[in-house]
Amino acid sequence: MLKEINGRELNILISSSEISKRVGELGKQITEDYAGKNLLIIGILKGGFIFVADLIRSIELKTEIDFIRVSSYKNEMNPGEVELVTDLGIPIINRDVLLVEDLLDTGATLEFIRDHILSKKPASFKICTLLNKKKPRESRINADYVGFEIDDKFVVGYGTDFAEQGRNLPDIYVVE
Ligand code: IMP
Ligand code: MG
Repeated sequence: MLKEINGRELNILISSSEISKRVGELGKQITEDYAGKNLLIIGILKGGFIFVADLIRSIELKTEIDFIRVSSYKNEMNPGEVELVTDLGIPIINRDVLLVEDLLDTGATLEFIRDHILSKKPASFKICTLLNKKKPRESRINADYVGFEIDDKFVVGYGTDFAEQGRNLPDIYVVE
């Protein structure tokens, strides 16, 4: 398997077996919390595509899935500016919505998508993120379900990328 990207060394942080165990636990919790409901899962592209694919198969409920695609520009000019690239394809009014993301960093992405979704009046709204970076945040975003709390380092794998590379890595690595 790949051990470097653009000359930067990769060191394993979370193995695929740890991920799959934790995803199973999250699925069980979500199944209990939404018992009897028809859950609408919204995956965030691109980073959340592998996590949401695994998570949905560990949820034993009636579910529907849709995707939203955003891009964020992180530079000194526009810190955390988020743009909607592809909107949802189905109505979410009065639906129980669970938003699924790969990684919560500054919170700008989730804040933008949360406001967008809440404006469409779902019956309920919760956030599930695989990774949550431990850092102080300006935005008031908190995930309801968190896979792993991680240090504030750049990570890659299992859907998350470094310069668009490494999404196919089965484990999660720190980019050194
Ligand atoms: P936020 O808007 O700062 O919370 O950043 C969230 C988005 O930035 C995530 O959806 C990720 O796609 C991306 N991101 C943030 N940190 C990392 C990282 O360490 N590795 C890969 N992508 C990241
Ligand atoms: Mg992302």
